[in-house]
Amino acid sequence: MRIAHLSDIHVLDLTEVRWTRFLNKRLTGLVNLVGHRKNAHPQALRETAVAELAVAPDIDHVVVTGDLTNLALESELTRARELLSPLAGRLSVIPGNHDVYTRGAERSRRFEGHFGDWMWTGGEGHHYPWIKLLGPSDAGVALLGFSSAVARLPFIATGVVSAAQIARLGSLVSEGAFGGRTPVALVHHNLHARGFRKDKMHGLSGREAFLTALEQAGVKLLLHGHTHVAHRMHAHGLDVIGSGSSTWASEDPRHIARYNVYDVGPGGLEKVEIRTYSAHARAFVTHAT
Ligand SMILES: [Fe+2]
Ligand SMILES: [Fe+2]
Repeated sequence: MRIAHLSDIHVLDLTEVRWTRFLNKRLTGLVNLVGHRKNAHPQALRETAVAELAVAPDIDHVVVTGDLTNLALESELTRARELLSPLAGRLSVIPGNHDVYTRGAERSRRFEGHFGDWMWTGGEGHHYPWIKLLGPSDAGVALLGFSSAVARLPFIATGVVSAAQIARLGSLVSEGAFGGRTPVALVHHNLHARGFRKDKMHGLSGREAFLTALEQAGVKLLLHGHTHVAHRMHAHGLDVIGSGSSTWASEDPRHIARYNVYDVGPGGLEKVEIRTYSAHARAFVTHAT
């Protein structure tokens, strides 16, 4: 199976803010801050990536590993859905910390309200991890979508995968829910250490326990976002890959907008293709495999 991996597209839409009377001061400050850096993730890059993947018949499925928005505003979630709609039918998403930016957004399950049908395929109850069975049992993929997104105070972006999600993963394994397919997991937060301060302010709590649970479940590949910088490691028998942001307007080779395409077989990850944005070509071009 060929899976394309986008992340951290950070759709910005502040139109809702103009008429909303109920914004608290904290959020108003953040709106201003985010508004000032609106060119960091240009719309053109999002549209280009989606347009390319929408006409790529060799791509079986597309995943977006969170931070679809900046402030989890209704207007941003609506716009993100419109943007990604050309991929509907072979698209899966999970939330990032920016998609539950306020307690109100988290409590009301605003992200799930906008994207639930791109995560849960049946009426089994809307719990994480969601599971999607792609392709035949002997050559397909069982996608598992975790949520590490939690509403925090401003400038704190830590995440956690709840014990309930770990328990549900165990139940899915016991039930034989993968049906012989290769399990591939999605989570927003990074699994690698980035230094004491970054881990404390932005990291995932219980990283080792989560990796151990995935290993025990036989997961072969874990895809994440959050850091906006590409990263790859092998840990606990898994390939762990952060795609970097797909929309970061940067000329720094480490930060430049990108997405990945993976070939996944019965044994796990077979090939990685990295496509980075070329301003000259106005397209994402293969950077490395
Ligand atoms: Fe992000
Ligand atoms: Fe994030």
